[in-house]
Amino acid sequence: MKRLFIILLAFSLILAVPGDAVEADDPEVELTIAGGAVGDEMEWTERAAEVYEERNPEVEVTIYATPDETDERRSLYLQYFEAESDEIDVYQIDVMWPGDMAEHLLDLYEYGAEDYVDDHIQGIVENNTTADGELVAMPSFVDAGLLYYREDLLEKYDLEVPETWAELEEAARIIQEGEREHNPDFHGYIWQGNAYEGLTCNILEWFASNGGGNFVSHDERVTVLNDQNRHMLEKAAGWIGDISPAGVTGYVEEDARGIFQNGNAAFMRNWPYAYPLARESEAFDPEDFGVTELPSGPEGESVATLGGWQFAASEHSEHPEYAADLAMFLTGKEMQKERALIAGNAPTVLELYEDEEILEAYPYWEEFYDVFVNAVPRPSTVTAPNYDEVSTAIYEEAHDVLSGRKDALTALEYMEIRIMDITGFPPGDPR
Ligand code: GLC
Repeated sequence: MKRLFIILLAFSLILAVPGDAVEADDPEVELTIAGGAVGDEMEWTERAAEVYEERNPEVEVTIYATPDETDERRSLYLQYFEAESDEIDVYQIDVMWPGDMAEHLLDLYEYGAEDYVDDHIQGIVENNTTADGELVAMPSFVDAGLLYYREDLLEKYDLEVPETWAELEEAARIIQEGEREHNPDFHGYIWQGNAYEGLTCNILEWFASNGGGNFVSHDERVTVLNDQNRHMLEKAAGWIGDISPAGVTGYVEEDARGIFQNGNAAFMRNWPYAYPLARESEAFDPEDFGVTELPSGPEGESVATLGGWQFAASEHSEHPEYAADLAMFLTGKEMQKERALIAGNAPTVLELYEDEEILEAYPYWEEFYDVFVNAVPRPSTVTAPNYDEVSTAIYEEAHDVLSGRKDALTALEYMEIRIMDITGFPPGDPR
């Protein structure tokens, strides 16, 4: 009898789990996040999902890891949107997409976003707001192109941190030559040269840092065909097989990051996420590398392309309230801080740039705050809804030059005509 009582007691205790007994394997609400897995991103997403589940015991969050390349992610999302699929509730979306994807996304203002928007970098909030005033995504982190360099090698070869592309070239060449004596795999400068969106980001930095504009101006002019851009495209093509490996024309962010982290490059162009990973390098000590602004050309100033990701809630979700709540939770101050500490992603919540723990982990952010806030956007708003095609024209034509299939002038002529065709805009001078 006593034994039966104990069994019954144990059984009733199992039923009386906290939160009024929604068992983890029987959730009331199942949500799926389509998130990124670049660098340590996935670790953060898993952690964030865990915290959300702890606070909302009726919810089970599943993570759908999406491809690293932004173009592939976009195609994948478009398939879900076209099918009006409810399989994904919350999407991590790139900074160029809010306008194009708006019709499939919930207006977060209808779910209480006005309490949080003022905390964020306002330019990105505007970027995520449609002409009708709907906030279709909340900023999660801001990206800006940076130059990573090996401080120990600059010292070894008695060189300064380069400020111009010409200085970068020279320093990269000297270091490469010296290091190759004992390391045949060593490269001077690595970046993202594959034919994809990441190359468009690199090209924008080359062109705009030499006064050549950012492809399409606010006043709807195509600003591609000019001497400044020709000079930069020829210069970049000249790096290949010299300070950059031939394989760079196939590199995306993670390829470059791996090479730098393994100690096989003097300089790298990449986003902030590579910083904590470079600190874990087994090839060099954390104090042996630094980050600085990208170089400038003879006719311009350093430019960082604006990147970054947002969380948006799907219009097709079965649980819109929860989906919106989760998108806002993931982008709130608490989770942005975790994201910064785990994955090195720069916050859009301004207050975090004064957070001691964050500044201790990323001392360079104090100085780089301006770089993040002033990063130059790709022309996605002015060319909407055709930015994707515009970018394809840019990276395809430039890739032809990098891989020796076209000369710079011909490629720029094609690039300009293609963008004029897509947008209907006339050519003009960069401003
Ligand atoms: C980074 C940026 C994103 C950009 C992509 C290109 O993920 O945050 O905005 O489109 O790189 O590869």
